Amino acid sequence: MQDAQTWHYGVIARYWAEFNDDFRPHELPYFQRRIEDGGEPALDVGCGTGRLLVPYLRAGLDVDGCDVSADMVALCREKAEREGLSPRLWVQPMHELDPPRKYRTVYVCGAFGLGSTRAQDLAALRRFYDALEQDGTLFLDIEVPYADEPVWRYWPNKERAALPEEARPPSGRQRAADGSEYGLWARIVDLDPLEQRLTYEMRAQLWRDDELLEDEQRTLHINLYFKNELVLLLERAGFEEVVVEGDHNGAAATPEDAFVTFAASRRC
Ligand SMILES: C[S@@+](CC[C@H](N)C(=O)[O-])C[C@H]1O[C@@H](n2cnc3c(N)ncnc32)[C@H](O)[C@@H]1O
Repeated sequence: MQDAQTWHYGVIARYWAEFNDDFRPHELPYFQRRIEDGGEPALDVGCGTGRLLVPYLRAGLDVDGCDVSADMVALCREKAEREGLSPRLWVQPMHELDPPRKYRTVYVCGAFGLGSTRAQDLAALRRFYDALEQDGTLFLDIEVPYADEPVWRYWPNKERAALPEEARPPSGRQRAADGSEYGLWARIVDLDPLEQRLTYEMRAQLWRDDELLEDEQRTLHINLYFKNELVLLLERAGFEEVVVEGDHNGAAATPEDAFVTFAASRRC
């Protein structure tokens, strides 16, 4: 199997650490409640720079984290250590997940289907199952393909002929706490509706005192999944019971939800 590839390295990883702590804040209490109800220990797969993990550790929860990007893991560790916390973190693609202990709760937020093949995604679901204790639960979210309008409009052949989108310069820079500035912009370069595979290209720049210090370009493939397809994959991976909830709200999913969460239980 080829390696999973993401774009969360270098300048993009530092951008995440700097600016993404307040991203989609309702996800934080959603997964926290699942850990509190479902049980510890918990594992954050694709933990990134610790947007969820660090607050959970701060709240006294027993949570480990792993991620394919060594840069994201290093920044997560730095963030935790600044608060006197020392989580168990490691670098590993989710399709090769091999944790040092079993979990009551495994959660995957914003990380499933990134840079992987579909075979790797199914392998990852099997690894999540194996990582759970009996009666443990996996919580995994996806953005449904039709919710992202700028992408959804490219599904018909006629519209898709316009791809790749034109490369445009960033509309502005964001200032970090240390005074450096980040410019970040992405474009869609391909969408394969048969394979449900989207390809983005991202350009990331780091500036200081109007001097360009770093300029990176990275590509990200995303496997797009619809609800019923993922339910079938979870069942194929061994999960005995799958409940689909709405956008991190605990209610049953509806067609209006942009994100859905799968609560998949291991019964034996
Ligand atoms: C959008 S970020 C989300 C980070 C974190 N879960 C959060 O919600 O803030 C996606 C993360 O998934 C990680 N990732 C992508 N593909 C992965 C894979 N195949 N295995 C493990 N982690 C992966 C990336 O490195 C990145 O840190």
